[in-house]
Amino acid sequence: MPDLPKFDFHTRANVDRYLSNGPPAFTPGHAGLLQMAGVLLAERTPDEGRILVVGAGGGLETRYLATASKTWRFVGIDPSAAMLDLARETAGPAAGDRLELIQGVVADAPEGPFDAATCILVMGLVPDDGGKLDLLREVRRRLKPGAPFILVDQCLDPAAADRDLRLDRYAAYARASGVDPATVAGARAMMETGTTFVAPQRNEALLTEAGFETFELFYLAMAWRGWLAHA
Ligand SMILES: C[S@@+](CC[C@H](N)C(=O)[O-])C[C@H]1O[C@@H](n2cnc3c(N)ncnc32)[C@H](O)[C@@H]1O
Repeated sequence: MPDLPKFDFHTRANVDRYLSNGPPAFTPGHAGLLQMAGVLLAERTPDEGRILVVGAGGGLETRYLATASKTWRFVGIDPSAAMLDLARETAGPAAGDRLELIQGVVADAPEGPFDAATCILVMGLVPDDGGKLDLLREVRRRLKPGAPFILVDQCLDPAAADRDLRLDRYAAYARASGVDPATVAGARAMMETGTTFVAPQRNEALLTEAGFETFELFYLAMAWRGWLAHA
């Protein structure tokens, strides 16, 4: 097999391609997903509300939300310095001084309490060895009672019988978006060997175990799922 480009969120060349070759090209209905997230958060987030953005690297969700509301404030957390730099470039003009970015994981975020939180396209990268549960618990305990939480994840159960078909669809969608075949092949290979993706039911069980009072599915696009949960 030829060497395939390995994607990581710390290599500047990858990060540079993130806005064009990242979520908008790989995640079906990405623009609508962000719009739905904004509408759902607005149901319970006050005008001056403070939102914790977990995995804020790249800045796409913060840019959208900072444009949708001119008064929400954002604390973004991400372990990748390169992705945080990109978030600053992407979301900075819309968010201005309403955006604080911190390098780290949720446990490194301020205690809050926050009025809302998001975790978009991040959970799939976190091992299910207690890491996913810890992440959700750390978000949950930083939220005010009843506050909304948007969780979006690619749910590729590694044990599913139709896993190869789902990976093929993932690749076909990205190619149809115009991503070059080598990049798509590398992304598919990463998914194939990735051991951190789980079935949707697993995320739902983890939301309950982490203490969220309610959750509902609001987004389903190929292997992606989005939930609105309340603390
Ligand atoms: C696919 S990107 C998604 C970024 C952004 N949320 C979006 O939707 O465009 C995944 C991001 O999650 C970050 N990440 C990985 N592990 C994380 C963790 N344990 N906690 C927070 N962020 C993490 C990566 O550094 C990367 O910036």
